[in-house]
Amino acid sequence: MSIQSERAKRTEWYCHDRFGMFIHWGLYSIPAENEWLRSHKRISNKDYQKYFDSFDPVNYDPKKWAKLAKEAGMKYAVLTTKHHDGFCLFDSQYTDYKATNTPAGRDLVREYVDAFRAEGIKIGLYYSLLDWHHPDYPAYNDLHHPMRGNEAYKHQTGEHFERYVEYLHGQVRELLTNYGKIDIMWFDFHYQEMTGEKWEATRLVKMAREINPDLIIDNRMGGDITSAEPEIYSGDFGSPEQMIPAGGMTDVNGVPIPWETCITLNDHWCYNANDLNYKSARNVINMLMECVSKGGNLLLNVGPDARGNIPEKSIEILKEVGEWMRLNGESVYGCGIAGIPKHDFGRITKGKDALYLYIQDCCSEHVAIYDCPYEVVGARLLCDGRELSTDDPWNVTSYTVPGHTVNFVRTPPFAKLNSNGNVVKLLIKQSK
Ligand code: GLC
Repeated sequence: MSIQSERAKRTEWYCHDRFGMFIHWGLYSIPAENEWLRSHKRISNKDYQKYFDSFDPVNYDPKKWAKLAKEAGMKYAVLTTKHHDGFCLFDSQYTDYKATNTPAGRDLVREYVDAFRAEGIKIGLYYSLLDWHHPDYPAYNDLHHPMRGNEAYKHQTGEHFERYVEYLHGQVRELLTNYGKIDIMWFDFHYQEMTGEKWEATRLVKMAREINPDLIIDNRMGGDITSAEPEIYSGDFGSPEQMIPAGGMTDVNGVPIPWETCITLNDHWCYNANDLNYKSARNVINMLMECVSKGGNLLLNVGPDARGNIPEKSIEILKEVGEWMRLNGESVYGCGIAGIPKHDFGRITKGKDALYLYIQDCCSEHVAIYDCPYEVVGARLLCDGRELSTDDPWNVTSYTVPGHTVNFVRTPPFAKLNSNGNVVKLLIKQSK
């Protein structure tokens, strides 16, 4: 089997599920600014130690997180088991820099895995390839390391990088063997010469797939996922960040490839006490429908605080998204590219025997669909299943566009329905 067809097989559930929860949580949740704080402010291991010594998330209850994710309609989750600061939320035999040695005193990844699995949510683990705590990771001459250019670190230039590579491989093996079947490994990230085989990526991926042949891996180790002949470590899905690619993602031959954009709910990945710039539920739903209409997934981020609570505002938004998903999820799960250009009223997704028109604001009596490549055999309002007429309006002849086909759907006044947008299900026959 080619790399592409293996990828297609492995990512089948993933491309069906479409919506996941990203969780950025760690020591940096205490200063509550940015998970890059150490790098930005050039904080030494010694000065960062106070967060390790006082990490005590008394309210950490991942069952609550998992219930919330489920309620929001999310089908998979990805947790930062180790971010760039090198702190491990899991109990690793390779380091003392882990949650078990903080006041938390236990393996927090295990509780996450158990709780999310119990809710039927697929398990993703984020693992930073960068490590600002490990002594064999380059510091002085590195682009991002907090101690870059610092004379006291003149000799930390990654001379024994092979020792870090063993550490990284060892920890990935732990993550993939100690917690049952892991569904996604989310590596972050490559830059300059720190890419591909620098991580011994081929060996790493082979080891990971030996443990679990179904494991889905992101594309941030290096390589080029869009290539006609991608490397084994080029990943199973593209991972744009804070943006939705204009035309979805394809390989060099124009063949769509799986992708997922990760987007923050406010403007930060980790908990930031001052950032109240939240997206609305309506924004989130619109982004999700845009992703699905372009054949992609949305990984929506939350940043729990130092005590282990997901911020109230995030909970409120996710619950509202969930209400919409309960009524309209059929237009998301198992859906993808419709093969019709975007219309003025909004995005269109396609399921097995239906097109789904996501309409946010249209208040007129009819919506028009131009150049539908399928035979339209009926229409329903998705939220309650009511029939919507697809008969041409009486005055249609004045409004046809020469050379184009137009299908009309008579719609109820949307303004009175769901203010987060409504979905018209257009029943279709595949051949026209
Ligand atoms: C970036 C940032 C990181 C964040 C990630 C999420 O790579 O380095 O802080 O975890 O994006 O995609």
